[in-house]
Amino acid sequence: MAANLPERYVVIGNPIAHSRSPDIHAQFARQCSQPIDYQRLLAPLDGFAAAVAEFIGQGGRGANVTVPFKLEAHALATRLTPRAQAAGAVNTLRFDQTEILGDNTDGAGLVADIERNAGVAIADKTVLLLGAGGAARGVVLPLLACGPAQLVIANRTRSKAAEIATHFGADGPVTASEFAHLAQRFDIVINATSASLASQLPPIPASVFDHATLAYDMMYGAQPTVFMQFATAQGATARDGLGMLVEQAAESFFLWRGVRPDTGAVLADLRRAL
Ligand code: ATR
Repeated sequence: MAANLPERYVVIGNPIAHSRSPDIHAQFARQCSQPIDYQRLLAPLDGFAAAVAEFIGQGGRGANVTVPFKLEAHALATRLTPRAQAAGAVNTLRFDQTEILGDNTDGAGLVADIERNAGVAIADKTVLLLGAGGAARGVVLPLLACGPAQLVIANRTRSKAAEIATHFGADGPVTASEFAHLAQRFDIVINATSASLASQLPPIPASVFDHATLAYDMMYGAQPTVFMQFATAQGATARDGLGMLVEQAAESFFLWRGVRPDTGAVLADLRRAL
């Protein structure tokens, strides 16, 4: 009987072999007694929509979407949550009877990891966001919703930071800057550039950090990133993006299943396995 089969979910990307999402969702499913089957799905670079259509045809109920398909997923959705609309990108799809719902849980994942797991409230804080690509854009509205005193977006290409600051200008106190012009310390510095992937450091002044700064890199790995090392050398507390990964997954799980998993044990397990 179909009713007894676990409902199917996938994470779609290219490449996809490295994705930790199947392990995370398998743990959530066990913990919450939710019978789901969650696999990796490698879509051809020119075949995202076809891969989704095929999966829906096989009874698929939802998907996480990762690089490089988040913009295509945004275009494919027939309805968008407000936060996906604001992000301009989709990392979570839910296949319902009459629609494909597109959501973006990345920003909520970042905020949950900073506020709940790291224990740092964003309200009234000064926040520096490094980068102006998809990863940065996706977290601007959720950050502003927390009520920071100030959100400065700095990017190598200043015009991209300025465009985002203008776009979200009505949503909170957001401005754009160049790296070299950053002249103050910040309570929270978030690295949303892809520089860490190449072991590079955005050229920010050391003075943006002090001993009370939380320095957050959206990337993660077995070793601290160069950004984390630089921040630590200035006395800041550094944190990588592993918690964001788990928290955005928990938000997706909630969208699909209506239950919130406990992320603490899953994060500790992943950390040990890195
Ligand atoms: P993502 O989806 O991960 O955000 P992206 O849209 O390609 O990827 O954006 C990458 C971001 O990292 C951009 O803000 C980019 O700066 P530019 O807009 O000037 O290209 C930034 N970036 C990448 N490598 C960098 C480096 N070595 N130093 C500083 N910023 C870097």
